[in-house]
Amino acid sequence: MRTLIKGGIVATASDLFKAEILIEDEKVSLIGTALPGVASVDRFIDASGKYIIPGGIDPHTHLDMPFGGTQSSDDFETGTRAAAFGGTTCIIDFAIQPAKGSLRQGLEEWRRKAEGKACIDYGFHMIARDIHRESLAEMDQLVKREGVSSFKLFTAYPGVFLVDDASIFRAMQKAGDNGALICMHAENGPVIDVLIEQALARGQTAPKYHALTRPARLEAEATHRVISLAEVAQVPVYIVHLSAREALQQVREARDRGVQAMAETCPQYLFLSYQNYEEPGFEGAKYVMSPPLRAKGNEEALWAGLKQDDLALVSTDHCPFCMKEQKELGKDSFAKIPNGAPGIEQRMSLLWDAGVRSKRIDINRYVQITSTAAAKIFGLYPKKGTIAPGSDADLVVLDPDREIRWSAKTHHMRVDYNPYEGRTTRGAPSHVFSRGNLIVENDKWLGKAGAGQFIKRGPLSAR
Ligand code: URP
Ligand code: ZN
Ligand code: ZN
Repeated sequence: MRTLIKGGIVATASDLFKAEILIEDEKVSLIGTALPGVASVDRFIDASGKYIIPGGIDPHTHLDMPFGGTQSSDDFETGTRAAAFGGTTCIIDFAIQPAKGSLRQGLEEWRRKAEGKACIDYGFHMIARDIHRESLAEMDQLVKREGVSSFKLFTAYPGVFLVDDASIFRAMQKAGDNGALICMHAENGPVIDVLIEQALARGQTAPKYHALTRPARLEAEATHRVISLAEVAQVPVYIVHLSAREALQQVREARDRGVQAMAETCPQYLFLSYQNYEEPGFEGAKYVMSPPLRAKGNEEALWAGLKQDDLALVSTDHCPFCMKEQKELGKDSFAKIPNGAPGIEQRMSLLWDAGVRSKRIDINRYVQITSTAAAKIFGLYPKKGTIAPGSDADLVVLDPDREIRWSAKTHHMRVDYNPYEGRTTRGAPSHVFSRGNLIVENDKWLGKAGAGQFIKRGPLSAR
């Protein structure tokens, strides 16, 4: 199958130029003008007035994830289809080591969840909740044989995911040996639990107390601590879902003194704020996630971090729970509201609208923070994350004039609310290609469940 995309402006993380792109089967084969042999292509896409960018890579999703006494509401079919509609063509989801089980068991379970369902390509990080001799040895196998080269550890959620500092340090040393990257959820979980207990004892049960018991300083403290551990272990570290300017300051200071500390933020921290928890009734539950939304003004510090590369990229932490029957589990206590929010579909459009269109960032930086940086940091580059001869034809034709009015009535995610309900963004995909297959054309779904492939990712040393 040969497809020619003509008339558009090609944007990568470094370049911006008008060119034709020839796709042959799954790969980009030629880029240029007056390309030879294009008279005989099977399909022709007119991209006049549009940009052609690498498909989005979302390195932080939770599909079909058991959490907070329920299951995230998007599975690998509904979640990856919604991602594709939004211009994301690759995700890295979090497989979870079962309690008292092995890393391999967790990986096999997540493979079963994804196989036959994923509509776009995917990789896995591994959440390690039990660090001991065997699981440390298993890390080697996962990196070398299975293409799982990043591990998430938590300083939060005591009794569920939290691991102690010594375990984090041992895992970091192991990662130094085998080329893995340690990703950290950085909040001081034990102290947060004290604050939660005290709030509940005072009868403070409403959703907003989720935020008030998770102060920014406890995110900054944990961020500082895990960066210090990585510094002593002499390994890079990656902070997930960074929300607070105080935590960003820790990353910035570490980078300034030469530590390889990297961090991502998420759209919710750029576009929403603590004020959302003050919405009437139980509406604030929509925004119960960890870390929580921060005070207004914080978002501008994060945009500055994105401009200056102290924040490497924007992921979603897509972890949807319906209001009905799921978020409602916490009607009587904010501590029982499952933590997480949907975002897999709107990330690319929100960032285009508020980033490129509003001139906060240029197009190259947009491509970097939505695709290229994730590909480079997590071992997918140059197969993914760029437009070059030989790279996967994961491409988005982005129409800068296409508007979307976000609503739970029309979005493709399987969740009964949209945190951005009523917001209009300008700039959206008109065509989305996954390994050369046209899977989205405007509002039309042309993809197939099960067409997405598991992608083995390389170790850090190969990046
Ligand atoms: O609230 C969140 N972030 N839920 C998903 C789990 C996690 O910590 O990333
Ligand atoms: Zn987390
Ligand atoms: Zn997460």
